[in-house]
Amino acid sequence: MLFDLRPKSRREEIFDREKEFKELEKSVEMYPMTLILGIRRVGKSSILRAYLNENPGILIDCRELYAESGHLTKEDLIRNLQSKAGLLNKIMSKFKISVNLKFLTIEPRELSLREIFKELNKIGEKTGRFIIAFDETQYLRFYGSRGGRELLALFAYAYDNLPNLRLILTGSEIGLLHDFLKITSYGSPLYGRLGGEIIVESFNRKTSLEFLKFGFDEAEVEVNKEEIKKAVELLDGVPGWLVIFGVEYLKDRDFEKAIRRTFEVARGLVIGELKELKQRSPRYVEILKGIALGYNRWSLIRDYLKVRGDRIPDPRLYALIENLKKMNWIVEENEIYKIADPVVATVLKD
Ligand SMILES: Nc1ncnc2c1ncn2[C@@H]1O[C@H](COP(=O)(O)OP(=O)(O)O)[C@@H](O)[C@H]1O
Ligand SMILES: [Mg+2]
Repeated sequence: MLFDLRPKSRREEIFDREKEFKELEKSVEMYPMTLILGIRRVGKSSILRAYLNENPGILIDCRELYAESGHLTKEDLIRNLQSKAGLLNKIMSKFKISVNLKFLTIEPRELSLREIFKELNKIGEKTGRFIIAFDETQYLRFYGSRGGRELLALFAYAYDNLPNLRLILTGSEIGLLHDFLKITSYGSPLYGRLGGEIIVESFNRKTSLEFLKFGFDEAEVEVNKEEIKKAVELLDGVPGWLVIFGVEYLKDRDFEKAIRRTFEVARGLVIGELKELKQRSPRYVEILKGIALGYNRWSLIRDYLKVRGDRIPDPRLYALIENLKKMNWIVEENEIYKIADPVVATVLKD
């Protein structure tokens, strides 16, 4: 069912994205490590889950792990891996193999992640390869006390020594993820280790229209073409928003109400995300508001903040704007800034 709010987990449920699937398959074949990048709600987790449904591997949701306790420790990660025992057994019975996974029965304190990766690599020896996927990987910078450096060393170890393991890392905050992995900085554990990159983009207009049409056809509901067009104009091509609109429309078959409800839901989600952003710096949210309201050049943003009583030093403003780009909240084109997701822009305006 297309109009279902959960991330999809089977390939047949995913609309379009054949190209991304092929790229992912090819990249996993070629590289020990693959990144899946794109703004929130564009469909990264859905693609990843569908891929893991067809390939032996496990998924670790870093955002969820982080949210549980506000930080990440080795024990958190190991417990999470241990909680996947059922899945691991299922994979082994599907491939008719048996690997003694000692890590499942040992106290996390007495284990090292390196040992666990080695044991999972053994499954990979039998099945061809084994995937360890981290969803929203940029949260791993909160691992341990050194910005996750130990994990980078672990990834580098796996990259070099465990030929049957494959890492897949997704990230909504692309620049932050790159900063965390530091593949291009000399002295970083992962330095020089190339990976594949799959960029998941929003749907273009045509695909967005087809997406909605397909969803309504599937639900056997006839919807006026003009309304579908209007919805795409308002919501653009982020599949997560289109799905919410579809679900809401099916409830009462009332276009205005469905759009209103979609923005209400969007507001709730975006406000939560802005809260998290505000904790990093309250200025981020002010800058985003300014940009959403049309103060979309460097000097205009500075003026906008000034009028609101914030005389921000230029280098500071520069750094914050760079970070917002890295976090994928905004995009820049010819020195003009734009909120990356038009629905987020609408929410910010009021
Ligand atoms: N290609 C797609 N086909 C069908 N549904 C999709 C597609 N992409 C995303 N969705 C829907 O949009 C929502 C957001 O997708 P998700 O995979 O969670 O995005 P991300 O991980 O990038 O934030 C999910 O509820 C999912 O149902
Ligand atoms: Mg996701």
